[in-house]
Amino acid sequence: MRMAISRLIHSQSPLSRFRLAFAQSGRLLSTESNRGDEPFKDQEAEPVNVPPPPSEKLLVLGGNGFVGSHVCEEALKHGLSVSSLSRSGRSSIREPWADKVVWHQGSLLIPDSLKDVMNGVSAVISCVGGFGSNSHMYKINGTANINAIRAAAETGVKRVVYISAADFGVVNYLLQGYYEGKRAAEAELLSRFAYGGVILRPGFIHGTRQVGSMKLPLGVIGSPLEMALKQAKPLNCLPLVGPLFTPPVSASAVAKVAVRAATDPVFPPGIVDAYGILRYSEQHK
Ligand SMILES: NC(=O)c1ccc[n+]([C@@H]2O[C@H](COP(=O)([O-])OP(=O)(O)OC[C@H]3O[C@@H](n4cnc5c(N)ncnc54)[C@H](OP(=O)(O)O)[C@@H]3O)[C@@H](O)[C@H]2O)c1
Repeated sequence: MRMAISRLIHSQSPLSRFRLAFAQSGRLLSTESNRGDEPFKDQEAEPVNVPPPPSEKLLVLGGNGFVGSHVCEEALKHGLSVSSLSRSGRSSIREPWADKVVWHQGSLLIPDSLKDVMNGVSAVISCVGGFGSNSHMYKINGTANINAIRAAAETGVKRVVYISAADFGVVNYLLQGYYEGKRAAEAELLSRFAYGGVILRPGFIHGTRQVGSMKLPLGVIGSPLEMALKQAKPLNCLPLVGPLFTPPVSASAVAKVAVRAATDPVFPPGIVDAYGILRYSEQHK
């Protein structure tokens, strides 16, 4: 069945190929997007694995951060040529993969930093975000990413993936600048990259976080919580407190889906929620 669908996709025009894959994997990846695409409802095919061309260049914004470093490592495993842009430049991680990344130093809030880094880049994954005062959170999650999305569109980048965040109901009010920034960047992405823009909305992300020379094993709490909460999806629909039951996902699962979304031309555009991230990454272990 999978082979038959793969052949079908390769024999069709790019638009119908896109529609078919959009219908199949959109239903699979997200509980929020693509519900209107009913004509394809009964098709049972899986997304097609299209390996990226080896020459493909990926720019990871914030590649030295917690999620960004997992994204860089995952992309290198797929044979991509990887560069990163962040304010501090090179990652402090001393692992062999880090030597294969081209590290640029600069800020998404300084237009000059974005001038040349996107030349020849086919896809961008933004892992830039952060906390602080409301105005700082809006700047870093919103304005900085909006600048990057506009620069990518103007340079002719084909696909952009933005690591956003799941809504947390009541918590959203406490982190207003954070969520307003996230949603503003999402809106910019969807308008500039209607066919190549993918938004990942994880809840809590676990894994090993490097803090200076120390490694924080966040998976110790995150993994069991993920196991428990992914079985409790109905709780997620409770009014007000429901979003607090969003299952955590691992940084490597986020990285896997982000790299696939950035390189697979038939990966459906739109929003992938925490359940979509879990499902997709489990299918492609
Ligand atoms: N960790 C979680 O549990 C979680 C959950 C949901 C969503 N997310 C989202 O996932 C993304 C990554 O999170 P994370 O935990 O990996 O954060 P992180 O470790 O703090 O990484 C943030 C990255 O952004 C870079 N950065 C910040 N300001 C920048 C600027 N002006 N220009 C260029 N680069 C800049 C930082 O590097 P420099 O400081 O060197 O610039 C760093 O590489 C964020 O958008 C976050 O909101 C995280």
